[in-house]
Amino acid sequence: MKTQEIARRWVDFFVSKGHTAVPSASLVSADPSLLFTVAGMVPFIPYLTAREEPPYSRATSVQKCIRTGDIEEVGKTARHGTFFQMCGNFSFGDYFKNEAIHFAWELLTSSVEDGGYGLDKERLWVTVYEDGDEKDLEARRIWEEEIGVPTERVVGTGKEDNYWNTGQPGPGGPCSEIYYDRGPAYGVEGGPAVDETRYVEIWNLVFMQYRLSAVRSKTDFDVAGELPKRNIDTGLGLERLAMILQGVENMYETDQVRPVLDKAAELAGVTYTSTEDPADPNHATDVRLRMIADHIRSSLMLISDQVTPGNEGRGYVLRRLIRRAVR
Ligand code: ALA
Repeated sequence: MKTQEIARRWVDFFVSKGHTAVPSASLVSADPSLLFTVAGMVPFIPYLTAREEPPYSRATSVQKCIRTGDIEEVGKTARHGTFFQMCGNFSFGDYFKNEAIHFAWELLTSSVEDGGYGLDKERLWVTVYEDGDEKDLEARRIWEEEIGVPTERVVGTGKEDNYWNTGQPGPGGPCSEIYYDRGPAYGVEGGPAVDETRYVEIWNLVFMQYRLSAVRSKTDFDVAGELPKRNIDTGLGLERLAMILQGVENMYETDQVRPVLDKAAELAGVTYTSTEDPADPNHATDVRLRMIADHIRSSLMLISDQVTPGNEGRGYVLRRLIRRAVR
C-alpha cells in the first residue's frame, strides 16, 4: 500500500468517527517553546491545555514533523528519520482511553477491503504504563478484556517509554504503545522490551491529562496538576507503517523516500544493496545513502517551510542536515 493511500485511509477512518480533518501545520512551530513541530499534537497545544476553546472536540491530521534527537541513528536502524509524518487522532475533552484503544485496534486490524490496514492481530503487541506503584490498570484491562490481546503480549513499561511530553513544560501523560512483530528474521523473540528492530513501535496513544511545570528529562519532570479536561493525543509513524505494509527492510526504502536514495546512488555511481549487516562490505555505502535520503528530504521540507541555512536556531539545524548529507 502506497504511503499516500495509508494517509488517506487514516483520515477517512477518523472522519467516519466524527473527527475534523485538519491539514498539516508548518514545520516551524507556532509554539514559542519549540523550534519545530516535533509531533502531531504541537499545533493543538492551546486546545490540549485549554488555553483556547477548540473549534471541534475531535480532530485528525497527518502532520509533517522534524526531530533531530536521534540523528546519529539515521541510516543505521530501520526506523529513525529526522523528517517523518505523524498520523494523529485527538480528543479535546471528548472521548478518552476506551475509544482511543478501540479506534486504534479497529483501524489496524480491519481488512484492506473494509478500509483498514489488514494487520495480523497475532503480530501486535502493546505496552501500558507501569512504574513502581503507578500502574495504568484501566488500559491493561481494556486491552486484555475488551480487545482480547493475550496477557503475555501486554507489557508494562515505565516513564522512559510510556510517559509522553514535548520535552518542555506543558501537557503530558501516560501512554500505551502498539508494536508490530516483523518476525524471526529481524531478531529474537520476547517482545518490544527485548528487541525494537524486530518489534517496531507503530502507534503511541497518549492519555493526556496532566500539566507538567518542569521537564528535566524523559523520566524526571514535575506534575503541577490535572489539565482542565482529559484529552487524547496519538501518533502513528506513517513511514514505519509504510515499511511494514510495503514489505521493505527500512523506512528509507518506502515509496516516498526510496527515489531520493536511488538518485543519490546514481549521481554518486555506487550501488545500494539494502544491507543492515555491519560486516557486509557495502554496509558503509548503504548507511551513507540512507542518511543522504533522510537528510535531503528533511532539508527540502524545511526549506519549503521558509527555513534558510544559518548559524543558530532552526537555520543551524538545516545547515547541519545539509552539511552531514554533503559529507
Ligand atoms: N505525541 C505523541 C508522540 O509523539 C503521540 O509520540
